[in-house]
Amino acid sequence: MDKVIDFINVNRDRYLDELKALLAIPSISALPEHAADVKRCAEWCADEMRRIGLQNVRLIDTPGNPVVYGDWLGAAGAPTILFYGHYDVQPVDPIDLWESPPFDATIRDGEIYARGSADDKGQVFMHFKAVEAYMKQTGRLPVNIKFILEGEEEVGSAHLDDFVRAHRGELGADVVVISDSPMFARGVPSMCYGLRGLVYFQIDLRGSSTDLHSGSFGGAVANPAMVLSQMLAQMKDRGGRIRIPGFYDDVVPLQDEERKAWASLPFNERKYKKDFGIPKVFGESGYTTLERTWARPTFEINGLLSGFTGEGAKTVLPAVAMAKVSMRLVPNQDPDKIAKLFEEYVREVAPKTVEVKVTRMHGGKPWMASYDNPFIQAAGRAIEKGFGQKPVFTREGGSIPVVSTFQEELGLPSVLFGVGLPDENAHAPNEKLDVGNFHNGIIASAMLYDELSRTR
Ligand code: BES
Ligand code: ZN
Repeated sequence: MDKVIDFINVNRDRYLDELKALLAIPSISALPEHAADVKRCAEWCADEMRRIGLQNVRLIDTPGNPVVYGDWLGAAGAPTILFYGHYDVQPVDPIDLWESPPFDATIRDGEIYARGSADDKGQVFMHFKAVEAYMKQTGRLPVNIKFILEGEEEVGSAHLDDFVRAHRGELGADVVVISDSPMFARGVPSMCYGLRGLVYFQIDLRGSSTDLHSGSFGGAVANPAMVLSQMLAQMKDRGGRIRIPGFYDDVVPLQDEERKAWASLPFNERKYKKDFGIPKVFGESGYTTLERTWARPTFEINGLLSGFTGEGAKTVLPAVAMAKVSMRLVPNQDPDKIAKLFEEYVREVAPKTVEVKVTRMHGGKPWMASYDNPFIQAAGRAIEKGFGQKPVFTREGGSIPVVSTFQEELGLPSVLFGVGLPDENAHAPNEKLDVGNFHNGIIASAMLYDELSRTR
């Protein structure tokens, strides 16, 4: 173990240079003009996986972007890790808010700034380097490992569930490892044992066949922007409770034990408001900020579009209005059931004055594990060794739908081994990864394989 850690320490700077090469590839899965970059990124990952000593490395085609596969299965009798990560990234707009170019990774104040640095290339790369250190120093790994890297995570993983089902036989393992989440706070490493689920919709309203003069028609024809606002305003009450009938039926109530544990976490609401420029927090009454984001569902408007939004003024009655909305779900809410309740409620609150179209988009189930399970405890020890500090146990508000797929389709538990930070700017301008966390994360990943080797 010592010589593996020595190797990681000695190679610290080289890792940053290599990671920069990976971050230079604009593998934006949402934008068709970047399809070739996405493919190139998959190939870069495959080449890297060969370089570090993985075997059977190949791109596996899906109806969308390829999955990169590679394994090392030489640890007879030891457990097998199924590692999941993604090589695609989010778009970069608004580009003018970036302080350095998103695909020219720049180190400032101990942070690597680039699109994908935290979500998820930097965190995947940690594991590459942990594998490399073992292979270079000992010629083997303490566990068997199968890597699958997806290229469509940021657009909803449309083909991943089918991929998992189709390759059920090859994906057999003991535990899934994923590094695609933040830790609790700077200097506070954590182990995450729960994620929220998601259902996402687009709502389109049409009030007339064309935009109308608001003087000639205003007051006599329903305004779809107004109707949409009124409909959306009925989704939540002033106390932050969602008004869709039946929405809370399957929500597992927060346990006293969890509430107590979370209340003792070093969360500072004043700092939270300051860091994110929030005048006053808002959420479901009766719950704290951590409880609201980790253990309670929410309904959010992700985007709104209607009418004239250019400079100046234009007197118009828009013909259409559109909203993107989503609901984060908690155990045991089922996305299909919630989707149905939502669609029914939209019909209920929609007046006859407009045409309404509701389109369901991506989503996934919530996930929760018991934090005393042996894999999460083993991962906690690895975090402690890598970061010199015992982790706190947390849930997260974000979603990684494949986690529940691995549980349901393959019967596999997951370990969320994330080293990002809450202010990493994922999906936003100036995404960054802390250089120290990246380095400690490589050591912790190496420790993780060692710890997991003893879980059987
Ligand atoms: N890395 C995130 C997931 C995440 C975010 C986990 C915050 C824990 C805390 C991932 O890349 C992501 O953005 N997931 C999407 C999933 C969606 C597209 C189905 C999300 O949460 O919005
Ligand atoms: Zn993401």
